[in-house]
Amino acid sequence: MTLRLDVVTIFPDYLAPLELSLIGRARREGLLEVHVHDLRDWTADRHRTVDDTPYGGGAGMVMRPEPWGAALDEVCRSAPGRTPHLVVPGPGGDPFTQATAHRLATQDWLVFVCGRYEGIDERVFEEFGARYPLSVLSLGDYVLNGGEVAVLAMTEAVARLVPGVIGNEASLDEESHTGGLLEYPVYTKPPVWRGREVPPVLLSGHHGQIAAWRQKQRLERTARRRPDLLEGYLDGQGGTAAAEG
Ligand code: ADE
Repeated sequence: MTLRLDVVTIFPDYLAPLELSLIGRARREGLLEVHVHDLRDWTADRHRTVDDTPYGGGAGMVMRPEPWGAALDEVCRSAPGRTPHLVVPGPGGDPFTQATAHRLATQDWLVFVCGRYEGIDERVFEEFGARYPLSVLSLGDYVLNGGEVAVLAMTEAVARLVPGVIGNEASLDEESHTGGLLEYPVYTKPPVWRGREVPPVLLSGHHGQIAAWRQKQRLERTARRRPDLLEGYLDGQGGTAAAEG
């Protein structure tokens, strides 16, 4: 079954990049189905209000539960035969990692819930979390203005794992965060640029030496930039890779 993505937001225009590039082509080729919805279509008042002041006081505004309830009732029932997996981007969520992307890519339907302001009334998560699988996911330890940019990042990470979406599936195997290490540096023509040479081993044609050089680069780069990842990698290898490197 093709992967279906729905996004509910008060800024549908923010999701325009889903028409472009990799995801746009995958949509046109029928590998992905994408629907973007304006939350305000489920408001009942003249001003199309979606927010209000927080109970208990405090700064900012909170998104009211009624538009979200009506929107998710309708959207989550719009594809009979599929079970929606709700994804709520937020800085307080579980970390979104490559492993998360792989897990989401195996679902048949993701419904992204984009909060703005100080967040969405918690009862929305109680209500829909009781009905459907629901994941709150964070891109990283920083605060964005809302979930829309996070949805663009997450949908791109997920979509490119769907079979057929990227042309060269082999390139998925070697990239950063696959196999626990960062990617090795890459070079192309010319062999000398501004006096800087391509590492000679890459011009040698010796596949064994090239593979060994690349693995050493991955280990060194990961140690320098992401020692936290290296620790996990070496644990997974039983500690043997350090001796190899
Ligand atoms: N919304 C606001 N900040 C976010 C973050 N860091 N990750 C995901 N969604 C967010």
